[in-house]
Amino acid sequence: MKKSKVRAGIVGAGFAANFHVNAIHRVYGTDPEIVGVTSRSIETARAFAEPRGLRAFDRMEALLEEVDVVHVCVPASAHETVAIAALTRGVAPIVEKPFTGFFGDGSAQFDARTVPRQHALDGALDSVKRMLEAEAASTARILYAENWVYVPAIQKEREVLEKTGGQVLWMHGEEAHSGSHSPVYGYWRFGGGGSLIGKGCHPLTAALYLKRVEGRARNGKPIRPISITARTHEITRLDNFIDVGLIRTDYFDVEDFSMQHVTFEDGTIATIFASELVLGGIHNWLEVVANNHRTVCSINPNTAMQTYNPKEEQFRHIYVVEKIETKQGWAMTAPDEDFSTGFPQEIDAFYRAVASGGPIESGSALGADTVATIYAGYLSAEQGGAETSITLL
Ligand SMILES: NC(=O)c1ccc[n+]([C@@H]2O[C@H](COP(=O)([O-])OP(=O)(O)OC[C@H]3O[C@@H](n4cnc5c(N)ncnc54)[C@H](O)[C@@H]3O)[C@@H](O)[C@H]2O)c1
Repeated sequence: MKKSKVRAGIVGAGFAANFHVNAIHRVYGTDPEIVGVTSRSIETARAFAEPRGLRAFDRMEALLEEVDVVHVCVPASAHETVAIAALTRGVAPIVEKPFTGFFGDGSAQFDARTVPRQHALDGALDSVKRMLEAEAASTARILYAENWVYVPAIQKEREVLEKTGGQVLWMHGEEAHSGSHSPVYGYWRFGGGGSLIGKGCHPLTAALYLKRVEGRARNGKPIRPISITARTHEITRLDNFIDVGLIRTDYFDVEDFSMQHVTFEDGTIATIFASELVLGGIHNWLEVVANNHRTVCSINPNTAMQTYNPKEEQFRHIYVVEKIETKQGWAMTAPDEDFSTGFPQEIDAFYRAVASGGPIESGSALGADTVATIYAGYLSAEQGGAETSITLL
């Protein structure tokens, strides 16, 4: 059978754009064509495009005229603008995480520490509403690129919940490492916050997703979050923090630790940790405690492969695992990190949905619930962790 053609554009030319292009090359359910890339400047677009044999576009609008999907691989502060530009042209935006948020007043001096969190929550919800309205008015749908939804272990847990009718009682999970690579990470005006949103969105969205799956399987209706208790901390900015040079410390106005405790409408719970403080490589996991089973999703590291390297130098040209500080000694080496992180599965699923019009596991409804939960979390943290209602759109 002939596969449907899906024409893709890339907006952004950094870290995420790279793993999106790699994932497109692994699409097998449709016939993808990467039309080109655009970025903030034509120079950065060219520097990304040329080694990959792609066309560089100096205007996003010109790229959007030629594609069916656009990969939104720009800082979170630009997600809404790019997504709405795509939707108004009938192009499906693949929106990286976090879906959207509140990014201040647009000034380079913006300091989120002076901003009441209710204002941030209102701003984030307004942004979500504008995106949902643009989607409702468009022939295209938003694809929310939360890769944790497409992680093989999370999709296996979806199957378990669907086939056993299990009730999830508590989930706990974490995303952490020793600090983001991105130079703009650390400024609220680009990321919409710190660990709580930048990292916490991953395990949180997976937890929100699995409760949706559970509700859909048993009652035909998702089970959604209703309240949150959250704490945030700035550990690396403590006066008594002892910096030995292993953990990134240059955060301007964002937290480097967060804890979110979410209550769902059926009274069950999820507890999510996220931080920039953890050595030993990226630490991504979600545990599901259900009434009829228990599942540990070890995303990264996992035990698919372990290597012992007695000499650091030997592994100089070998990628071991994300954000590991040393390659010497035992390591949980990732044989195919993109696969265990769900990147190729996510893009393949999105392209199939675009080609066939079929269902989307991670779409705008999940993105909207994530943003509403996270910013209610910031409001809770401002009040020392008071339980705070989540405004669902
Ligand atoms: N799913 C994941 O695991 C994961 C991992 C990393 C990043 N991300 C997300 O991907 C997005 C991009 O992050 P990154 O790490 O690639 O950042 P980056 O800084 O490496 O790259 C961002 C790119 O966007 C370009 N850009 C910035 N503003 C723009 C605009 N208004 N229009 C067009 N181009 C613009 C920059 O020039 C740069 O090329 C973020 O939303 C981030 O949260 C997701």
